[in-house]
Parts: sequence; C-alpha cells; structure tokens
Amino acid sequence: MGKFIIEGQRSLGGKVRINGAKNSVLKLMVAALLGQGTFSLENVPQITDVNTMIGVLRALGVQVQFQAPRMQLSVSSVQGSTPQELVKAMRASIQVMGPLLARLGHVEVAKPGGCAIGRRPLDIHLSGFQQMGASIESEGDVFVARAPRLHGADISFRYPSVGATENIMMAATLAKGRTVIRNAAREPEIVDIQDFLNQMGARIKGAGTPVITIEGVHELGCTDFTVIPDRIEAGTYLLAFLITGGSGTLENVIPEHIGPLLDLVQGMGAHLEVQERAVEILSPAKLRPFSLSTNPYPGFPTDLQPQMVAVATQAHGQSELVEAVFDKRFGYTAELKKLGAHIDSKEQAVVVHGPTHLKANTLLAGDLRGGAALVLAALAAGGSTTIEGVDHIDRGYESMETRLLRLGASVKRIAN
Ligand code: UD1
Repeated sequence: MGKFIIEGQRSLGGKVRINGAKNSVLKLMVAALLGQGTFSLENVPQITDVNTMIGVLRALGVQVQFQAPRMQLSVSSVQGSTPQELVKAMRASIQVMGPLLARLGHVEVAKPGGCAIGRRPLDIHLSGFQQMGASIESEGDVFVARAPRLHGADISFRYPSVGATENIMMAATLAKGRTVIRNAAREPEIVDIQDFLNQMGARIKGAGTPVITIEGVHELGCTDFTVIPDRIEAGTYLLAFLITGGSGTLENVIPEHIGPLLDLVQGMGAHLEVQERAVEILSPAKLRPFSLSTNPYPGFPTDLQPQMVAVATQAHGQSELVEAVFDKRFGYTAELKKLGAHIDSKEQAVVVHGPTHLKANTLLAGDLRGGAALVLAALAAGGSTTIEGVDHIDRGYESMETRLLRLGASVKRIAN
C-alpha cells in the first residue's frame, strides 16, 4: 500500500482537466457484454477500478486493450464466470449480472462483501430480475440467477438505486417485450449508459427522468463512445482550490452535473465563472459555513460529502451535513479529528465547528471518497501529513499526486 506525504498550506492555482467518469465507464465496459464486435471507448481514466473491471471482462472472454485514455473491447462469444475475488474487490462487478443473465440465461455472482460506507443490500436488483422472470437462489457465497429468456415487466423501485437502475436497464435491452422502470435513478451516468446502449442498437428512452422504458431487441452490436467527465473528480478538485484559498479552472467538466456543489460554494463566498465546459473558481478570504443533505441526483452527491466535511473545517462557523444515501459514511471523520478538526457526530449527520488550524499527523484512508477528504484536509493543514492506504484513492482518482503537484501542492507518493 502506498502513502502520500503532503506539506500543507499552499494555495493551489492553475488548470486541471477532468477525466472520464469512473461510475460511467465501469458500466459501459459491462454493457459491452451484451453486444458483438469491437468497441472503442475514449476518455477512460487510468484508475485501478478500471483495471479490476478489465480482469472481470477478460475472465468472460472479452479481449481488452487499454492505453489511457483509449480502450478497445472485442466481444464475440461470452463465456466463463465472474472471478469471485474481483467481485469482492469491487462492488461495481455486480453489474455483470444484468448483461450475463440477458445474454447467457444464467449467472453466478459472488455476494459483494461488507463495505466501509455501510450496508449495501441488493434487494432492488434481485427483485427486478425476479419480476422479469428470473429465479434467484442464494448458494453459500454466491447468487445463482437463471432465466432462459427474460421478459419485460413494469417495475417500481422502492428507492432510486443507481446500480439497480443500470442492471435492470441492461438486462431489459435483450428481454422479450417492454420493461418500464419507475422511480429510476436519474444520475448523468445513467443517461450515458442509455446513449451507449442505444448506439449499440438498444431501444431505451427516459434516462435522466424517473421513468425509463426499454423495448427489448434480439441482439446488440458495438459502438465507439466518449465517456462523460467525472463530476466527483471535478468536485474534488474544485474543493482542493477552495480549501487552500486558491483559484483555478476545471476543464472538461459539465457544470450542470455539479449544479448543487456550485450553488453551495457560491453560498460559501466563492466567485465562479461558469462556461459551457469549464468552471473557474476564485476563493474568498473567509469561507462561510453551510448546511447540506446528500440525496440521489439531482440532489447533493453522497460521493462529495466527505470532501465537504474537510472544507467545513475551514469555514467560519458551524456547518451541518446530513448523510441520507448511505447509513455509515462518516468513518473518515475519526482521521480528520487526528488533525484537530472539531466534529460532533450523530447517527446520520455531523456538525463541524470551524475554522480550525489543522495540524499534520499520520492518517489512514479507509475508502475512496473518505481518502479524498483526507487529502483535502492535509492540503490545508500545517506541517507534513502522511496518508496511508492510498490504494483506496487510486481506485477512483488518476495520478492524484501528479495532478496536485502541477497545481502547486507539495505531494509525494511513497510506494511500500
Ligand atoms: C453508485 C456509485 C457510488 C455512489 C452511489 C450513490 C458506482 C460504481 N457507484 O453506487 O459511487 O455513491 O451510486 O450515488 O456507480 N440499496 C438498497 N438495495 C439495493 C440497492 C441499493 O437498499 O438493492 C441502497 C444502498 O444500500 C444505499 C442506497 O440504496 O444505501 C444507494 O445505493 P445505490 O444507488 O444502489 O448505489 P450504488 O449503485 O451501489
């Protein structure tokens, strides 16, 4: 596991180009399992979750060539099973269930293990497949799902789960008849997957709204596609400028996708220049405190909640953050407290008392976005902070240390 050594209290400045979205590309790769032919993906980030997904696809017979930011996937016959250790390493592997069930009529997937950000059940995915005619058995450590041919169904989700929306949407492309998903998740990544599948020959409409309709077809082909920019990476760098009192520009970003964040930082006193594909931020002398609650899109993203807590330590006053998507997503605050942060924790909320002169310490990243929050806090802290467990950060941020260095931070990676 590598470490970052960060000398804090340097204002960041300059331009950072945002990479393709992790949460889109992982699903596009899986969606290719439904098709036939050679796919070319552009704007693919060099992150370890992408490498894990390459392992999953290769085990299923897909040929993959990857030299970031371009990936080529050649899909002919799909066979084999999903390696259990890869599913356990990355929950997004569960997304192979929909495509494999639709294409092969059966699938065995290891149950994803527990997770640092709380319980993550799969009932919405499984009940959707059952409504489409699948039988699902739980055999020890694996789910075994079977359906000679899935049929369309009118499915109402009890919660707009991102993963379930994508899984059912993918399975429905090859099902017999029409599937309607109600109370579907509306994230931009879901629109990206709809566009990708439609270019492969699927008939989907409604992504980005709560009702998605899929007319099943007999087969799907292949396509070339450019992944949308990563709104969470964009938000993280925007907050890196803000927490260090810096100014800079995000390039290759879709401002609409980070609307709630832009509103929030403006409310904190930042000045923004928003263009079609870029956002420039000028930090204020003094940050105002704020309140937020995470919510499914278009609400404030849970994947930016930890980074906002780090920023709240520098705001003048009391900020309150409610976590309404996951049930245990404040584990990283124990590490922020080691830097001197004043954080009161309740069950699903924290109150942060700022501003605090954070002081360097040795911290351990326990999950991806919590790890990003530790990096932000270290950028603001006095002295030299060590962050261990950087492999969590590498899952979703391409070369974070190099990119922060270019913006004027002092960050070193130590491999051990
Ligand atoms: C995706 C994102 C993740 C993000 C999350 C919410 C990927 C790879 N990951 O995760 O970064 O934080 O969306 O925006 O795209 N739930 C159930 N039953 C289910 C499914 C989900 O109760 O069958 C619950 C979960 O436990 C969680 C909530 O619904 O509390 C949200 O989960 P979901 O939207 O499914 O997130 P993921 O797709 O896992």
